[in-house]
Amino acid sequence: MKTLLAGKKILFGISGSIAAYKAAEWVRELAKAEAEVTVVMTDAATRFVSGLTFASLSGRRVYTGMFEKDAGEDMTHISLAKESDLVVIAPATAQTLAKLAHGFADDLLSTLVLASNCKVLLFPAMNSNMYCHVATQANIAKLLEYGYEVIEPGQGKLACGDEGIGRLIDWQIAREKILSILAVQDLEGQTIVISAGPTWESFDPARLLSNRSSGKMGYALARVARRRGARVILVSGPSAIEPPPEVEVINVMSGEEMHKGMMAQYKSADIVVMAAAVSDYRPGKTMKQKVKKSNKSIEFELVPNPDILKKLGDKKKKANRPLLVGFAAESTEHIAEGRRKLKEKNLDLIVINDIIGKNTGFGTDTNQVSLIDRDYQLDKLPLLSKEECAEMIWDKVVKLLQ
Ligand SMILES: Cc1cc2nc3c(=O)[nH]c(=O)nc-3n(C[C@H](O)[C@H](O)[C@H](O)COP(=O)(O)O)c2cc1C
Repeated sequence: MKTLLAGKKILFGISGSIAAYKAAEWVRELAKAEAEVTVVMTDAATRFVSGLTFASLSGRRVYTGMFEKDAGEDMTHISLAKESDLVVIAPATAQTLAKLAHGFADDLLSTLVLASNCKVLLFPAMNSNMYCHVATQANIAKLLEYGYEVIEPGQGKLACGDEGIGRLIDWQIAREKILSILAVQDLEGQTIVISAGPTWESFDPARLLSNRSSGKMGYALARVARRRGARVILVSGPSAIEPPPEVEVINVMSGEEMHKGMMAQYKSADIVVMAAAVSDYRPGKTMKQKVKKSNKSIEFELVPNPDILKKLGDKKKKANRPLLVGFAAESTEHIAEGRRKLKEKNLDLIVINDIIGKNTGFGTDTNQVSLIDRDYQLDKLPLLSKEECAEMIWDKVVKLLQ
């Protein structure tokens, strides 16, 4: 499956900030995702990083000046601007922001921006005082008014030694911004509640019962739904993964906490996805003190946790909402089990996960799932990255919404 970036023509501007070296990673990642990246550097940018770096990473000619040799023959500024699907400037200096805010066209990059008619995404990077200066803030306000997207820089230690706002944001956040601009906003207006990760059921202060879920699938669903325009609330069991940007996260620990969290959130939801691997059982009693080691066997009683999906399905019978998506982790009889759960839990869609297949299920970056919808239509998906898998699941949900 091709990503949203494949074949997209991205005009990538680099201006003269100390953060220019970080743009190398961005260009590399975009090119890896098969975007056609054309780099344009300001004169100041070439003082920080060589054009050769970007030519090697993008596999294309790098443009540095308006009056370069042969520039006039193909009217470079017009042709590059017209062809682009998106203009990204990273890092964007105070100087470049000022130029764009005043419509200057005294170098190739600013001329290209004026000549383009696609979305322009600006990622400022500079010293905090420069960023907070009224002149820079007034320029940003003007740029926003013109319809440019200006992404607030990150906080932290800056190259000049100061601490504060002004760092070029991380690639992962930038990637989401770029993808959300390119993505069809077909989940706009939807509030989506997604559960993810495992649960921890405590025996005593040191020991617990859990499962191998990493949260990767639920987090991928949240990231992609946000990108496609939804408001996303992620109810997450313990997970080591960084939450996706612009997603509201509610952290829970046990199955009972997950139950409470989901019951509190589902009321505002248009769509609920139960991707969490909630432990079916929990210890009947949690010891206050650590159980001492001995040579004797000990027995613990396990009691069932609430079946959150079943409860949501029962509620849906009365209200006929929200649209309900369940996950089933199966090791045998996948399809038959999936059909049974779809009906029993009153779901609109079930995603069946083969947890013993190679590269699929718990903890992996890829997944191979089958989807069964409320009309019992079966779709067997190939082995995909969890993000690609999330795209296919949302495609199906969008069809069900219609
Ligand atoms: C070592 C050094 C680091 C700089 N870092 C930044 C920076 O991070 N952000 C910024 O706005 N300007 C920075 N500047 C100043 C710009 O390079 C300068 O304003 C230049 O005119 C920008 O031109 P351009 O926007 O056409 O690339 C730096 C200058 C030097 C010498």
